[in-house]
Amino acid sequence: MYTDKVMDHFSNPRNVGDITDASGEGTVGNPTCGDLMTIYIKVKDDIIEDIKFKTFGCGAAIATSSMVTELAMGKNVDEALKITRNDVADALEGLPPVKMHCSNLAADALQAAIEDYKKKKAEKE
Ligand code: FES
Repeated sequence: MYTDKVMDHFSNPRNVGDITDASGEGTVGNPTCGDLMTIYIKVKDDIIEDIKFKTFGCGAAIATSSMVTELAMGKNVDEALKITRNDVADALEGLPPVKMHCSNLAADALQAAIEDYKKKKAEKE
């Protein structure tokens, strides 16, 4: 049912944890399955220097969060904001249709973390 890439990121997730002095953080939940995901980013000069995630979710949610952190690491925040649910699913070489909503969680949490960073930055200026 799952691709090797999904199994790899599920069994060996990258960038798990949190960042205590994060520049931005975003939490999203899926009301249907009750799963939750938080993404933390550390940003310098608009570049994502570090990114971590925590998830209370299914295996696909773990794999998609892990993949989204890899896709966003080192990117400019505006570029990272363009990472879509489909980009995450494609990078994992596909997700079963019933699991596509899990990749929504990962992309949405990343976007929420970047919006939080931008809001905090605007407040400082
Ligand atoms: Fe809820 Fe996957 S079943 S995120």
